[in-house]
Amino acid sequence: MPIQPNILERFAFFTLNAAPTPMLDLAGALGYQALSTAVRLHLFETLQERPLTISELAQKLNCQERGLNHLLKALDGLGYVTEKNGRYHNTTMTEKWFTDGTILDLNSAITCWDAFLHDLWPHAPEVIQSGKRPYNFYDYTASQPGLSHAHQQMMSGNANLNAPDIVKRVKLPAGPTRLLDVGGGHGAYAIHFCQANPNLQATILDSEIALETARQHVTANDLTKRIHLQPADIWQVEWGTDFDLVLLFNFIHHYDLETNVKLLQKAHAALKPGGQLAIFDQLESKQFGSAINGLLRLISLMYYLFADGRIFSSEEVQQLLDKARFSSVQFFTTPMWAGQSLVTAVKQSSVQSDASNDKQ
Ligand SMILES: C[S@@+](CC[C@H](N)C(=O)[O-])C[C@H]1O[C@@H](n2cnc3c(N)ncnc32)[C@H](O)[C@@H]1O
Repeated sequence: MPIQPNILERFAFFTLNAAPTPMLDLAGALGYQALSTAVRLHLFETLQERPLTISELAQKLNCQERGLNHLLKALDGLGYVTEKNGRYHNTTMTEKWFTDGTILDLNSAITCWDAFLHDLWPHAPEVIQSGKRPYNFYDYTASQPGLSHAHQQMMSGNANLNAPDIVKRVKLPAGPTRLLDVGGGHGAYAIHFCQANPNLQATILDSEIALETARQHVTANDLTKRIHLQPADIWQVEWGTDFDLVLLFNFIHHYDLETNVKLLQKAHAALKPGGQLAIFDQLESKQFGSAINGLLRLISLMYYLFADGRIFSSEEVQQLLDKARFSSVQFFTTPMWAGQSLVTAVKQSSVQSDASNDKQ
């Protein structure tokens, strides 16, 4: 958690500009490093078994007490652990986001962030100056042992958190049978849709290495007969036709507007008349507060640096869908989705679209 200024400190930092406000960003970087150190030492997992004194914890983590004491105090200041009667334990915030394996996998997110901070962010000045990247993001994640899996696990945690709500909001045509998940990586969305729709069969299109994670999840959920994994570059293969639902989840942010029109046209061609497209991604929106808007700007910068992508506004997505001839566009978001939005749109049946063309 970022360190929280009290009311007097807020006044000094944010209103009077009397204290060096950028120090809070420098502190944020230190806070991240303290958190990453705790994750790499398995400190939260160990405290989850039972609260421990510093010397008990030092023994279990094979650490020196003096260093561990500094780390615990820093983590206490950030709200990750707390001390009671000489024993440290995880706060409820840490229990929820780091040790409950059923929701967001922030341990995998830390593995990814560590790698990105070490290998990709240092190139930021040259990328911004030249517009060129000395790496390809997905080749890079594939080349680092365990990184592609950590990336997919991070995304899969996000999916498991949001999918139940998304599945309820996507109104499928009656008796849906075919789903295409483009860049579906870890498979969690296809799994949730199949579990909610017993007659649905899904195809996940993604790279071979991403699908290794999907294979584990699909097998663990006993869905190998209903979920087909298709390793391919989505630009190099035909997607097939007559799908009831096409998912483009966390995908449009990889491309510019022009490429996204082509992507949506491919989705349109893959759907049956009356079929649904669903997009789930971070989108700029006037509904969000300052923390989410600040987060979205940082993530958009990251997408630019890593893959020449960016976050779009709801208006831009509406225009993209219009260009690709989708109709009945709906936008949904909730504060729980931390800046992500769901967009659904329908491929008109040819009778409807002929009628609307006649009117024009
Ligand atoms: C940010 S992840 C999103 C994963 C998942 N859809 C989700 O929302 O959690 C993007 C996925 O797209 C895949 N991807 C990117 N470009 C691709 C391409 N040209 N062909 C196939 N898959 C691609 C990546 O491997 C990755 O699994």
